[in-house]
Amino acid sequence: MKTFSTILSVQQFLSEKKAEGKTLGFVPTMGALHKGHLELMRRAKEENELLAVSIFVNPIQFNNPEDLKKYPRDLEKDKLMLEQVGCDVLFAPDVDEMYPEPVKKVYHFGKLEEVMEGEFRPGHFNGVAIVVKKLFDIIKPGKAYFGEKDFQQLAIIQQLVRMENIPVSIVACPIVREKDGLAMSSRNERLTEEERKIAPFIYQTLTKAVSQMPDKSPHEVMDWVYEQFEPKPIFELEYFELADDKELQPVQSWKEAKGIVGFIAVHLGKVRLIDNIRFI
Ligand code: PAJ
Repeated sequence: MKTFSTILSVQQFLSEKKAEGKTLGFVPTMGALHKGHLELMRRAKEENELLAVSIFVNPIQFNNPEDLKKYPRDLEKDKLMLEQVGCDVLFAPDVDEMYPEPVKKVYHFGKLEEVMEGEFRPGHFNGVAIVVKKLFDIIKPGKAYFGEKDFQQLAIIQQLVRMENIPVSIVACPIVREKDGLAMSSRNERLTEEERKIAPFIYQTLTKAVSQMPDKSPHEVMDWVYEQFEPKPIFELEYFELADDKELQPVQSWKEAKGIVGFIAVHLGKVRLIDNIRFI
């Protein structure tokens, strides 16, 4: 695996490879890699001749300074995992390389950025869009892989690609879970032993919520989910929302959309976790 920390050097290397006609798959990450990330890479490796991965903890997408400071970082361990999946190119720039000047660009994603993560993490998706656009410009992949774990992020990236006419295909990959159902996340590392034990309650509640359809209405299912978290003060439920799978707008009935997904954000101790599950 070749590792690059400057934009110019990675561009130079990849342009040579592309001149040789090699297809390139790309997986952008913030590091602290786990099996969820590796699954995206495995798929990208299967579908392309070359795999490029970026590791960059993007400061401008963190609306909470404490979350940025505490974000787990271990480049050496990540590199070992990347070698194991057969990654060809690692791009791991520092903040000055990516943002030599203050960022001014503001994207507008309309309705998509007004709900859930957009509502509760102001500026977050603008930061994600800016870094992903920059990374696409640098790496110029044919295909880029994103996880449904961050369902709303995936929708934002798809809209970004349409808005900016970026010549890349976005590949959506299913959520990878621990054996007990907890969605894999770099943030899980920050849970205490006690919190980690109780964390699968989130996915258990989601699966039970699905089984109540169609007897209960979307509104009743939402109320039921809130009730489940009420007697458990270790969790602070930020939102549970049932929304269509395109514009991610709340639904009132099961017939309102062809695809409906349940979205959840929960604080467990000092860690904020998100998850989602398909209803229809
Ligand atoms: P990060 O949280 O490191 O995630 C990188 C990619 O891995 C994202 O597409 C995310 O959805 C996917 N992923 C994470 N956990 C997953 C799981 N359990 N199952 C399936 N996929 C999973 O998302 C980001 O980084 C950043 O916002 C980024 C896009 C890199 C921009 O900075």
